Amino acid sequence: MTGTHDGGPMTGLPSGKAVVAGVAGWPVGHSRSPRLHGHWLQRYGIDGLYAPFPIAPENFETAVRGLAAAGLAGLNVTVPHKAAACALCDRLDDTARRLAAANTLVFGPDGAIEGRNTDAYGFAEALKAAAPEAAAGRGPAVVLGAGGAARAVVLALQSLGYSPVRIANRTAAHAEAAASALGPGVETVPWEERAAALAGAALLVNATSLGMTGRPALDLPLADLPPEATACDIVYAPLETPLLAAARRRGCRAVDGLGMLLHQGRPGFRAWFGVDPAVDDDLRRAVAGDLLAA
Ligand code: ATR
Repeated sequence: MTGTHDGGPMTGLPSGKAVVAGVAGWPVGHSRSPRLHGHWLQRYGIDGLYAPFPIAPENFETAVRGLAAAGLAGLNVTVPHKAAACALCDRLDDTARRLAAANTLVFGPDGAIEGRNTDAYGFAEALKAAAPEAAAGRGPAVVLGAGGAARAVVLALQSLGYSPVRIANRTAAHAEAAASALGPGVETVPWEERAAALAGAALLVNATSLGMTGRPALDLPLADLPPEATACDIVYAPLETPLLAAARRRGCRAVDGLGMLLHQGRPGFRAWFGVDPAVDDDLRRAVAGDLLAA
């Protein structure tokens, strides 16, 4: 086949020159990143491919180096590989270094692997888009959870100006470790006192997996959460978690977790495919139409 029949942007099909990227996880079947990047590739008529790569932890480094050697532009990295990804990089951005976790790898032409962490950026951008006043970062914030996602959220809140940021986590030692890694302005609150910690808060973020389909709901009485506060969830399945529904009933603004997922993908797409992609309602429908309908 020749000319416009060999694939590429003219046909909407990838050609032999297609730029290839993907997502590495274990498992990876639940990832919505192929839909996200696939939608953008189509929308911008880019000669590219974005594929899921299920990679077991013991094969992670070999597989990543192999994919880099095979000419991929880079990878997104999801559970459980973010720390391992960080460890094998030749260069790291500040966020990846601070979080000791990389979710975006860029393979350079010189063979160097650059690691970035775009989760904090994704959360901050999603908040700016959904609740611009909340992104002004005035007042105390409460974050539930102390895992990788929670740490990224805390970093985002610090950069937006929230102070103090109170972390409440089931395992106190994990909250302490996160607070000491993330520095001044971060306080810990005993898990049993999480409801009282909402007094005077301007922002609440659930950064645990509670409230996700198939998991227990987050047990958090909101009586002390000011009605002017904004409540965010990083869980996006369902989009309207029990926490967000309860916050709305109090008159609070509620921000679902889908925006963080969509925005965290932008820097990788830009680095691999050369276009800064837009996040809009079409994209929300393409990535999470089933959840929107639910
Ligand atoms: P991620 O890196 O995606 O944030 P994670 O490290 O497994 O994932 O973190 C999950 C978070 O949800 C943790 O803060 C965890 O609390 P622990 O540090 O005590 O494990 C929290 N979490 C999970 N199940 C929970 C439950 N049933 N009750 C309270 N917190 C829970």
